[in-house]
Amino acid sequence: MSRVILALDQGTTGSTALVFDRRGEAVGRAYQELIQSYPHPGWVEHDPEEIWRGSLRVMAAALANAGVAGRDVAAIGITNQRETTVVWDRASGAPVHPAIVWQSRQTAGICQELQEAGLEPFFRERTGLVVDAYFSGTKIRWILDRYPEARRKAEAGEVLFGTVETWLLWKLTGGAVHATEPTNASRTLLYNIHRREWDPELLEALRVPAAMLPEVRPSAGELGRTVALEGLPSGIPIAGMAGDQQAALYAQQCWEPGQAKNTYGTGSFVLMNMGDRHPISSHGLLTTLCCDADGRPAYALEGAVFVTGAAVQWLRDGLGIVEDASETEALAASLADNEGVYLVPAFAGLGAPYWDMEARAALLGMTRGTGRAHLARAALESMAYQTRDVMDAMNADAETPVAELRVDGGASANNLLMQFQADILGVPVDRPRLVETTAAGSAFLAGLSVGFWSGTRELAGARSRERLFEPRMEAAERERLYSGWREAVARIRHGPS
Ligand code: G3P
Repeated sequence: MSRVILALDQGTTGSTALVFDRRGEAVGRAYQELIQSYPHPGWVEHDPEEIWRGSLRVMAAALANAGVAGRDVAAIGITNQRETTVVWDRASGAPVHPAIVWQSRQTAGICQELQEAGLEPFFRERTGLVVDAYFSGTKIRWILDRYPEARRKAEAGEVLFGTVETWLLWKLTGGAVHATEPTNASRTLLYNIHRREWDPELLEALRVPAAMLPEVRPSAGELGRTVALEGLPSGIPIAGMAGDQQAALYAQQCWEPGQAKNTYGTGSFVLMNMGDRHPISSHGLLTTLCCDADGRPAYALEGAVFVTGAAVQWLRDGLGIVEDASETEALAASLADNEGVYLVPAFAGLGAPYWDMEARAALLGMTRGTGRAHLARAALESMAYQTRDVMDAMNADAETPVAELRVDGGASANNLLMQFQADILGVPVDRPRLVETTAAGSAFLAGLSVGFWSGTRELAGARSRERLFEPRMEAAERERLYSGWREAVARIRHGPS
């Protein structure tokens, strides 16, 4: 009898596999970091083969860690870093170019051309997105422009496009299935979110041939079966798939319109369930597809912040002022407040709500007494301020303000940050016991679709609150700190505000 669901979370900094039992508890896990390559300033690339090999390795290792065999797996769920673009040759399986990561700015020039041609409102209206290098469409165009032979083959369906979930599904099924699902499709600039289909006019505007696109299938439902692979037997259904942020929204059980979550990963992504409504934001947010309680398409408003956890990673790897991210909590706590020092971590430009591709990071307000504690504090605080930026936009767009924010992801373990987040937002912050919600979301979608769980009622207990952070800061202090942040952002803006 099948005893577990295996979830693969292929993220920006690494791949995680988790094994879930019938209670929805994680009983095995494995993680492997991914090499980041920065071939030019502002470019970020991954090796698709490394993504694949690492994913396979962590899946096998997580099963071993849980003490179960491949034949015990009822289904696999996949969740992924979204927008990251892979283009590969159907016959050989060889990637045409390294994967262009969502953070990469190499298509800023193409975006500028589209904006100058007056196409921004057209894309915005149909896709719910903004014209920014973040999304896949201009990345595909960039690859095809650079490799004319690949463009010719793409037109014949011999060269394929996929975001990471599509690439992994294709590899897991031995090249038999080339498919995606709505939450990932809605991040490409090619998918009409109202009609829920690839839009020929969007494809034409980006010069992307339809023959290279994956088929869009439901997020919950059998997408294909594994072939025999190292550490995995053949015949396991891949039965759930969603972009990592939508998977987190699902696992946080934000199934009712108005419920919102924030995942602190490389960046931070606040998503609010909107149900059937799909308004186009007038405050710099995205409209995107997510999953309702049954895994069917619903809509969400999203505030995508490019750099939060990555700022702490920069303190560790770039500056070497901490050895481990967890040290930042004690360092930050050694100061009563930020003493006027702000870090605006626009290492990859600014995402929501500013959308400024050319903005670059800055550290402001330093004095001779500024040291590593200030930097650690400024990096942590920047995560909370950026979350406030997008929550304010969300409150302006939505009919009712967000009453509480559910949090997850690596940095949600930081108590100082979570208290500060509640203080800066002025609403409670709710942290669940299991903060690896991205993997959990894909596991739940897969498990529900193969009948491993009979319905969402059975999953209700899989999310439980570990701690609630109530706002404690005086309103005047909150606004003083936040207006300092707004001034710091204004100083580094490049594009129009
Ligand atoms: O849109 C980008 C997002 O999906 C990346 O998530 O967790 O890999 O930083 P993460």
